Amino acid sequence: MTNPDLTESAVLDLVRSIPDPELARPLGQLKMAPAATVRPDGTVEVDIVLPTPAYPGRERITEAIARKLTTRFPGIPQPVVKFSHFVQGKNTGGAIGLTVKNVVAVGSGKGGVGKSTIAASLALGLKHFGAKVGLMDADVYGPSVPHLLGAHGEPAMLERTAPDGQVYHRIQPVEADGLKLMSIGFMVKPDQAVIWRGPMLHKLLTQFLQQTDWGELDYLIIDLPPGTGDVSLTLSQLLGLSGAVVVCTPQQVALLDAVKAISMFRQVKIPVLGIVENMSGDIFGRGGAKKKAEELGLPFLGEVPIEADVRIKGDDGQMAALFAEGSPARPHLLNVCERIAIQIAKSLLESPQMPTLEIL
Ligand SMILES: Nc1ncnc2c1ncn2[C@@H]1O[C@H](COP(=O)(O)OP(=O)(O)OP(=O)(O)O)[C@@H](O)[C@H]1O
Ligand SMILES: [Mg+2]
Repeated sequence: MTNPDLTESAVLDLVRSIPDPELARPLGQLKMAPAATVRPDGTVEVDIVLPTPAYPGRERITEAIARKLTTRFPGIPQPVVKFSHFVQGKNTGGAIGLTVKNVVAVGSGKGGVGKSTIAASLALGLKHFGAKVGLMDADVYGPSVPHLLGAHGEPAMLERTAPDGQVYHRIQPVEADGLKLMSIGFMVKPDQAVIWRGPMLHKLLTQFLQQTDWGELDYLIIDLPPGTGDVSLTLSQLLGLSGAVVVCTPQQVALLDAVKAISMFRQVKIPVLGIVENMSGDIFGRGGAKKKAEELGLPFLGEVPIEADVRIKGDDGQMAALFAEGSPARPHLLNVCERIAIQIAKSLLESPQMPTLEIL
């Protein structure tokens, strides 16, 4: 005899009151619990829609739902929780014709700390979880994306005609490892020096964003060049980024540069999602970035150890292999992707007003 109080609406009320373990708001408020089914034998099935496929709290949600329902309805079979995802985003690219939910820049204050490695890993990792992802190389002086992903070939230019008869061009991104890629490296030979003056740089980046057939993407990751804020300024003028990820190594000097990068992002009104520590380990030490993030009141987005395999796979254009089962870097890289995806989802809940950092 099933409990007459065990109705779908009673189940939903209970489930919707449970706080999401990552976003710390009730599942109902987050619109993450759209439906529940109660079968005649008392079996309960709950649908949960996650805000990102790179969501690390599935088991915690399942346990919390089971606890809540079995406490309220003793004797029911273990509830079945079914997960799907619908990526939330700022969707700010409309004005320039982009159908991308989240645009995320990866930068640093210092060169050579692993921005491109982290940007490529973030793109590959989010795709690994099931998101639709593009990766744009905004480093026009030292493009790395084609090399890291072993991607070759020139992007095709397609001629299209607008309804008013005007002919325009669309650039087809290069596809590799399930990612859509765009880089100046596909268009100039590696030994060809290119001098970009400010306005040309602005125009090129605008074209990469606007004229590339990115299609519908959950995340577009942008690998920033080292140093100045020119590219970041251009990007922030074109669209509202979901945020920037700051990469730094654990030494003090790199951390000081990271603080400068954070200040630069704030100047150009790009929210900072947090700090990733790359190359953690014996040579550089460990934990410096986490401490700095805490000091600055910014989220710490995980660490990637210094590992020969990361450099070798990058050199060989085999970054995707870092995500293979058994790869030592894999759990670290996936953790960084999850933390960034959650931070993006969190930032969407918070007010668009950016907090000012007195420290900077
Ligand atoms: N976790 C890591 N372990 C070992 N080597 C790494 C790691 N991360 C990056 N590297 C290596 O460090 C070098 C610099 O990395 P990368 O090109 O990603 O840095 P960057 O910050 O993008 O540099 P630039 O400022 O020139 O754009 C590369 O050879 C890369 O393979
Ligand atoms: Mg780089």
